[in-house]
Amino acid sequence: MTARTRRRFLGQAGAGLGLAAAAGFVPTRFAIGQKAKLKIGLMLPYTGTFAALGHNITDAMAMRLAEAGNKLGGREFDIVKLDDESAPPKGKDNAARLLVREKCDLLVGTVHSGVVLAMAQVAKEEDKFLVIPNAGAVDLTRKGCMPKLFRTSFSNWQPAFPCGDVALKDGHKTAVIMTWNYPAGHDSAQGFKDSFTKGGGKIAKEILLDFPNVEFQAGLTEIAALKPDCVYVFFAGAGALKFMKDYEAAGLKAKITLYGPGFLTDGVLKAAGGAAEGIKTTLHYADDLDTPINKKFRADFKKHSTRDADVYAVQGYDTGTFLVQGLAAVQGDLAADKALIKSWEASKIESPRGTFTLSKSHDPIQDIYLRQVYSGEEKLLGVAHKALADPGTGCKMA
Ligand code: PHB
Repeated sequence: MTARTRRRFLGQAGAGLGLAAAAGFVPTRFAIGQKAKLKIGLMLPYTGTFAALGHNITDAMAMRLAEAGNKLGGREFDIVKLDDESAPPKGKDNAARLLVREKCDLLVGTVHSGVVLAMAQVAKEEDKFLVIPNAGAVDLTRKGCMPKLFRTSFSNWQPAFPCGDVALKDGHKTAVIMTWNYPAGHDSAQGFKDSFTKGGGKIAKEILLDFPNVEFQAGLTEIAALKPDCVYVFFAGAGALKFMKDYEAAGLKAKITLYGPGFLTDGVLKAAGGAAEGIKTTLHYADDLDTPINKKFRADFKKHSTRDADVYAVQGYDTGTFLVQGLAAVQGDLAADKALIKSWEASKIESPRGTFTLSKSHDPIQDIYLRQVYSGEEKLLGVAHKALADPGTGCKMA
């Protein structure tokens, strides 16, 4: 943030932000031995196409923090929530509201890649930590990676790359890609193309729609005319649900195999009904992973939220674990930033998705599973790629 925008924020009155905690002066320490509360800025979508994703991340993170006695490194904390509406043009202002005006100690967020790129700029300018529980903008694990930025989720290349091999193995030679025209869509398409074209597959066409447009009809008509062997899409949340329904209604489902990263079906499986049946996807999580931690997590999340867990809930839960472990290592002292970075870099996260560590560019190294919807449930078919790391090498950490 420039000095000018900083002044603008500090000067602004607290206009209706829907924040969960009051602004004000927060001393870092009270009396000797008694530490002030930590303030966590939680920026997620609670409205729009990705609203359900934001809610599952929030609730599962809260559940994990409650498991840890609602303390981080011995410190109590407040969470200041902000609905970012998955709106990139508001991203910088919203992040600045949390870091500058609300004086949050660190930022957690968000779902949308375009918004997270704006958040990362503000976190860098303010020299604050940013922990990303979803948004997979590849740039942040490559050219744009930075010491105080960590991701507990994925880079959008990761779940996409194994999908190209799956399509090839299923005998497909031509594909049409359809996605939203924003960083996540581009990164995901690139991941699929990297493996599909390397194995001899051809991309007949890439069809792009502005986010969060769900008028799919023109694209579906084009696909019907092009008659590729298969279609690869990156859509998520309410957009993914509508896409699967429209694909079926257009009569394409029975004719042209549909693939995608598991964001296509996660969280919308029940609502999709028959439209999701048989769809194969690749993702760093599968509902039916047969491990005690996954079973307990799913049962606990259902009790806690009354909803079924999905990949977004897993990422929220793991973000909680990440905060608990890192802040325990520095006794809740974020000023010990070098020690915190070291501790987080060495993280081993016991997750419902399977245990994962972080790459040099602060992104999970994780198994990518192949799943298929069968009788309305996501079934694990196997591991599509073991211990996959984003290939980024452009990162220069401090
Ligand atoms: C992203 O914008 O990076 C994104 C959004 C929703 C998803 C996955 C990735 O489900």
